[in-house]
Amino acid sequence: MAENIHPIFDKLVGRGDRENILKQNSRVIWMTGLSGSGKSTIAEALERKLFKNNFFCQVLDGDNIRSGINNNLSFELADRLENIRRISEVSKLFLNCGVITINSFISPTIKMRNMAKEIIGPDNFIEVYIKASLEMCEERDVKGLYKKARAGEIKGFTGIDSPYEIPTDPAWVVDTGADDVATSVDKLYEFLKPTLTFE
Ligand code: ADX
Repeated sequence: MAENIHPIFDKLVGRGDRENILKQNSRVIWMTGLSGSGKSTIAEALERKLFKNNFFCQVLDGDNIRSGINNNLSFELADRLENIRRISEVSKLFLNCGVITINSFISPTIKMRNMAKEIIGPDNFIEVYIKASLEMCEERDVKGLYKKARAGEIKGFTGIDSPYEIPTDPAWVVDTGADDVATSVDKLYEFLKPTLTFE
């Protein structure tokens, strides 16, 4: 048909059309917390749970972001801000594709998370605080990085000699000291479900 080859036709394929095909409302679920708090574990378990329930989603974390698009960035605060800025821009593209994006990044300061919220859009941004005390993360020390930071082998480590600012008004808190992973993910899923479900 003639109108299908009109240049404006492409522009008519918008986020809503993609959400309609995927039968879901896309959002960015932004997980913040200390290193070793369990962000990625929760993010991956949530991804599995959402997928099982026919939601189309993707986790973004250090494994696929800091190793690729952001492999030129350090852990200095200015580079962390740039890390979060690029992640936010990528998330916005995913959002407009109708995909539910689960981000797992320390994103240590309120300024960084506010920037992410601005780029992504406040209505699309769901902040989830993965709560775990520094003592707990340090005791677990899954990657052995806290030990190195205490020994001075890593400088500017979050929680040791670089700041972590606790979210003041997160949409949801996962208390890893109170619940196990399965329970945390079940609760988070029930919280998210009404928002993500397409009517
Ligand atoms: S962020 O601060 O820029 O958001 P991001 O989530 O991408 O950080 O990366 C954090 C991960 O990088 C940590 O879980 C840890 O494995 C590793 N890492 C290496 N150096 C540091 C550091 N100085 N501070 C915190 N995490 C570090």
